[in-house]
Amino acid sequence: MSNSKNKFEGKHSIVIISTSYAEKKIKKEFYSNFLKEEMALRKLQNYHFIPKLLGSDHNFLTIKMEKIEGVNLLTIIKLYRKRKISEDLILSIFKIIFKICFVMDLEKIYKDEWNRPFKHVIFAKESIKIIDFDRSVFNTSKKNTLQFLSFVFGFWKMFNTRQFFTYLYEFSIFYEKQIEKYQSFFIDSPY
Ligand SMILES: Nc1ncnc2c1ncn2[C@@H]1O[C@H](COP(=O)(O)OP(=O)(O)O)[C@@H](O)[C@H]1O
Ligand SMILES: [Mg+2]
Repeated sequence: MSNSKNKFEGKHSIVIISTSYAEKKIKKEFYSNFLKEEMALRKLQNYHFIPKLLGSDHNFLTIKMEKIEGVNLLTIIKLYRKRKISEDLILSIFKIIFKICFVMDLEKIYKDEWNRPFKHVIFAKESIKIIDFDRSVFNTSKKNTLQFLSFVFGFWKMFNTRQFFTYLYEFSIFYEKQIEKYQSFFIDSPY
């Protein structure tokens, strides 16, 4: 819910956007959400797809981060529904989001909420950015990619087919193996 365009009040937090940064203040009853958001941002700092972490305060439960300006996925989807952008373009966008999900799976950070990615995927000037990590789960076998894949199937209304479930099941087994291979590569690699 938005009070004005510089202040967003969500279930867990209030986000204030100032001229040069964004500050997310988590409500005091959601301390674990504060820890999750901070840890996810910290662990992913080397990647370009998240806001830079500028500071955090464990007493006030505030997280200061890079301000992300751009158009969100909801706007892009609405343009697609109005046929203002092509199916090819939306597919390319989904492919980039899949890559981000893949990286997060390798890092074993499950963001959750890929079933409703509308406001958390932002098309900023230089790249696609992802925000809102306060529900993250760490060191889990849950996969961002699979959750996003379900969203994509739902998007094209391909949900209720038997084929979909068979495909999703087979893909999840295949994907699990891929992730394991990549992870062992990182561990074994001398570089
Ligand atoms: N780094 C940021 N830069 C710009 N806007 C942001 C940033 N982080 C959050 N916002 C805005 O605040 C809204 C709520 O943030 P979010 O992290 O989703 O809070 P909550 O987890 O409480 O729902 C977002 O939808 C977005 O509009
Ligand atoms: Mg949230």
